[in-house]
Amino acid sequence: MSFGVYFHIPYCIQRCTYCDFATYEQTQLLPPDSYTQLVMKEIFLKRKIFLGNSKSRKVDTIYFGGGTPSLFSIENIVLLLNTLSREGFLYGPETEMTMEINPGTVSEEKLNDYLRLGFNRFSIGAQTFNSAHLKRVHREHSIDQTLDTLALFKKYNLNFNFDLLFGLPHQTIEELIYDVNQAVSLGSTHISPYYLTVPEGHPLSKNRPPEDAQIEMFEIIEKELSLSGFHRYEISNYSKPGFESKHNHLYWTDQEYAGFGLSSHSYVKKMATEFPSEPLNQNNKIPWGSRFWNPNNIKIYTQEIQTQTQNPEFQFIYPWQLESKYYEILEENQALTDFCHIFLRLAQGLDLEQLRNKFSEVSFNLATTQLEKLHGEGLLAKTSKGFTLTARGKMISNFVFQRLTF
Ligand SMILES: C[S@@+](CC[C@H](N)C(=O)[O-])C[C@H]1O[C@@H](n2cnc3c(N)ncnc32)[C@H](O)[C@@H]1O
Ligand code: SF4
Repeated sequence: MSFGVYFHIPYCIQRCTYCDFATYEQTQLLPPDSYTQLVMKEIFLKRKIFLGNSKSRKVDTIYFGGGTPSLFSIENIVLLLNTLSREGFLYGPETEMTMEINPGTVSEEKLNDYLRLGFNRFSIGAQTFNSAHLKRVHREHSIDQTLDTLALFKKYNLNFNFDLLFGLPHQTIEELIYDVNQAVSLGSTHISPYYLTVPEGHPLSKNRPPEDAQIEMFEIIEKELSLSGFHRYEISNYSKPGFESKHNHLYWTDQEYAGFGLSSHSYVKKMATEFPSEPLNQNNKIPWGSRFWNPNNIKIYTQEIQTQTQNPEFQFIYPWQLESKYYEILEENQALTDFCHIFLRLAQGLDLEQLRNKFSEVSFNLATTQLEKLHGEGLLAKTSKGFTLTARGKMISNFVFQRLTF
């Protein structure tokens, strides 16, 4: 079983008009040093959820996401990493350590600091090589900054993901092909294409490529990337063989993860009776796992951590001691839904043997009946182990997932 840690760093130079993530312009937020102190307290408070009664636990992946974590000082990154180790979360050279970087925010010196700290994977929010599109979505970086940042990463022969934003207002198919090919030729080992999603009425919802062009865009990304040796290992992630993101893989293979910082999410599987707390269900167990998350609002997050730290009863905290809106103890039907959704996102698909091993016979039968129906409708294909999405299934995956919600 693998285990990963996510840190959310919510600072950005400016807000992109389309962004729906919990981030703030850096001047609108408490100083980074104070935020770091809050996150350190959170690690301390929640350590037992992940460690149980053990003194330590191996961490397979660490991911600094945002926001723009590359705006954070090295000193603050060191404080967070040191707190992790001190509280028993053990990482080493074999841990995949990813840092999200925005073009223009990392000097060669800072990159060397990252490498010294053990970061071995980077994710670059470059989006597009078209200046007009960058400006239109209110990104603050320039194409020259993207090229300089990519040149630096290429010089050190680093393993990096490229975030590609597409389906932009006025964007043509030719422009998209150019973006994809540039991202490949400048050394990316992994590409995450994001189709611009904005609510109706948003200024960027106008002049989007027509529907048939949108479908073509998805197909073109797949075609161009497969010609360049990338494979689509998950619905919206492509990599060269061997460069799949281990951290993302945790989310899609039902593994545990800890999220620290504003808006971050955590998931733990079975929690057993050894946990001293009020009964959770009749057996005092969490048989199907628990998901819990932090507030999206920085004032509320700050208050929560401060209140928890000041409460003498809280030497450590369990999910069910959080306000009920911040945690969920999963029932079997929710775990079944999650299982079907996450595994079908992956190219390898859903394994029926694993489904049978994890769930009761009633749930197994419920799921397989639906899987067979979707197969009959051409949305799922059979593999030697189970099912995977067909090309049409991938295009309307939300519909497929809706049908697999129990
Ligand atoms: C939350 S950002 C963090 C990385 C980095 N700050 C950046 O933006 O480059 C991760 C990715 O989500 C994408 N994203 C954010 N909001 C989006 C939206 N409404 N539609 C599509 N992609 C979006 C961003 O373009 C970015 O590449
Ligand atoms: S830089 Fe990234 S995280 Fe920040 S506002 Fe833009 S899309 Fe969102």
